[in-house]
Amino acid sequence: MTAEAVADGLARRTVTARASAKVNLHLAVGRAREDGYHPLATVFQAVDMYETVTATVRDDSQITLAVTAAAGFSGSLADVPLDATNLAWRAAEALRERYGIADGVDLEISKGVPIAGGMAGGSADAAAALVACNRLWECGATRDELADVAAELGADVPFALLGHTAVGTGRGDVLSPAMAHGSFHWVFALQHEGLSTPAVFARFDQAVAEGVRLVPQPAVDEEVMAALMAGDPFRLGTALRNDLEASALALMPKLKRVIDECERADALGVIVSGSGPTVAALAASRIHAQEIAALLRSSGTADAVVCASGPATGAVVLER
Ligand code: C5P
Repeated sequence: MTAEAVADGLARRTVTARASAKVNLHLAVGRAREDGYHPLATVFQAVDMYETVTATVRDDSQITLAVTAAAGFSGSLADVPLDATNLAWRAAEALRERYGIADGVDLEISKGVPIAGGMAGGSADAAAALVACNRLWECGATRDELADVAAELGADVPFALLGHTAVGTGRGDVLSPAMAHGSFHWVFALQHEGLSTPAVFARFDQAVAEGVRLVPQPAVDEEVMAALMAGDPFRLGTALRNDLEASALALMPKLKRVIDECERADALGVIVSGSGPTVAALAASRIHAQEIAALLRSSGTADAVVCASGPATGAVVLER
């Protein structure tokens, strides 16, 4: 590195933050509200697949965005918007407005979470951008204040900020931390083709219109909470539930084969992650996860297979 580059690096302050992907262990969905959103009762768990956002201050007021693939990333970066519609860009803009910041920022996202995979990769970008820009611009926002901004950006962004294991109600954005013991080992079967979250919710609405019965008020299953508290993956495996699963399967029928393969590989439980199309299989141990992953890979039903563990942290600044 030249002396000029070193001086430039010192002058151009940089902060790097990362946030995790999530899986919903339980997702109960109610009838659509007037604003189009659905009332949820969900249990989120963060898993150790990461989005990393590097924020570098600019001496003008521009925001720029670049995206690269992290090691192990599977999918096409061509699907990531690089303009003001990107959630990380919107996060930086929202924070800047709220705290009256004049500076711009160059954002660089390193993607490790599948795009449109039901694992909240875009929400993780927004959460990481919030904590990175808060430090970079010295906004002084507390975690609660960042959570307010996060909720305006999207229903999954507050959880990406918080991480670990939590119950989400409202649109999924009203959070309370959940007690969980030990680690849970997951296998994620990824597809290159994504599913649009609004499209999956619309398919859910169609099923309701066609007569699928809904509970009046979605609620979290006590069995999930008890299994988490006991750190018991066998119990958790049988309690996994996702009300969006049938809709995701209707839009992408080939997922049924992925689920069947996970079951054949003796997963403790199998679930579509969020609005899909990622399929999550719960294993008894790290080694069991690797065994399931090997069988899944040889089945050829997924475009990529990744092992990850939860709970993982929320959005944090990576100290140099
Ligand atoms: O909040 P976010 O932009 O992530 O949500 C994406 C879409 O998912 C919404 O526009 C809506 O169609 C759907 N959604 C929903 N109910 C929720 C969360 C999301 O209908 N609780």
